[in-house]
Amino acid sequence: MPDYKFDNADKLPPYIFSQINEIKSKARSDGQDIIDLGMGNPDQPTPDVVVDKLIETVRNPLTHRYSQSAGIPKLRLAISDWYSRKHGVDLDCENEIVTCMGSKEGIAHLSLATLSSEDSVIVQSPTYPIHSYGVVIAGAKLKSIPLKSNLDDFVNDIETAILSSVNKPKMIILNFPSNPTTQSADISFFKRVVDIGKKYDIWIIHDLAYSDIVFDGYKAPSILEVEGAKDIAVEFFTLSKSYNMPGWRVGFCCGNEDLIKALKKIKSYLDYGTFTPIQVAAIKALNDCDSEVDKICNMYKSRRDELCEGLNRIGWPIEKPLATMFVWARIPSKYEHLGSLEFSKLLISKSKVAVSPGAGFGADGDKFVRFSLIENEQRIRQAVRGIKNILGS
Ligand SMILES: Cc1ncc(COP(=O)(O)O)c(C=O)c1O
Repeated sequence: MPDYKFDNADKLPPYIFSQINEIKSKARSDGQDIIDLGMGNPDQPTPDVVVDKLIETVRNPLTHRYSQSAGIPKLRLAISDWYSRKHGVDLDCENEIVTCMGSKEGIAHLSLATLSSEDSVIVQSPTYPIHSYGVVIAGAKLKSIPLKSNLDDFVNDIETAILSSVNKPKMIILNFPSNPTTQSADISFFKRVVDIGKKYDIWIIHDLAYSDIVFDGYKAPSILEVEGAKDIAVEFFTLSKSYNMPGWRVGFCCGNEDLIKALKKIKSYLDYGTFTPIQVAAIKALNDCDSEVDKICNMYKSRRDELCEGLNRIGWPIEKPLATMFVWARIPSKYEHLGSLEFSKLLISKSKVAVSPGAGFGADGDKFVRFSLIENEQRIRQAVRGIKNILGS
């Protein structure tokens, strides 16, 4: 009998979201119309110019060979132009940029490349699962710090955690605008974080996935805008969200040379890079799709308004988030005792709406559910009507 102890896989708890997915699929196969506001999986097509570029490029057989794991040079150039245009940040294409097969892959492999069982890592909680589980897979210890609505208090808590650690944490992983909480930060927050990183010699990893999906005049800063951030920080971005390219698997990591070198190295052992035609199409997206990104952002704004105003109308008080494709909602008090998984099940069975239980993002999320804005306004109105049924009764 083979040994069924699989150390790394066994470290990972069952994925809470798959329980909801199973219930949703079962309800759908029973013929029920479930409105899916669960996974952060954009529903709209990739811009035509990007698809056309892929088709044109894929016809060239030279592009069918192994690609480059760190990213083809012209894609790295497009990334550096994107950073300069959007954030006023200059990057060296050779040493400060690596492309990833989606940012999730990069985040996980950066942890694997840099951490050992001696290390601990500070992660905000709740957060997007790979921020924590990348650390767990790498065998390092997690120090989850609960997010606070006042980010100054949150940074103070980070500093307290550092000072009270027996072994100083090696890394801090952050994500603003945040999935799932939608919380947004301004540049003064990142200045404080960089100061802390430098003061205590701790690496900072920032995930900027939602920087393009911002509303009401808010502009999401990059941590790399802080002077000297590159001494200790890298940042991830993804084309999945604001370019409607989730299935394409294109992301990138930029900033500190040593961290980039470590990620490049481990990736050079593990992959041959995203298929070249996809990388070429990604160049088109980054260079020529700013107006498409604006349209995508406006679409999420209108869905956000529909959902938040609808929920407020039926007696579920929700503040409109300033960023992301999500609404993070505290479970109404009458259902709080259920916890987020049971409440999400109730939403599917009684309201015909699928959401993500907050507990899937860490125990600190259990009083919340996350709505993804991945259905249109009419479907969102239908969802609100379904939810009204359980709030009133
Ligand atoms: C904060 C955050 N980072 C990274 C990702 C992963 O994106 P990608 O498709 O680039 O792997 C997601 C996806 O939901 C996310 O919410």
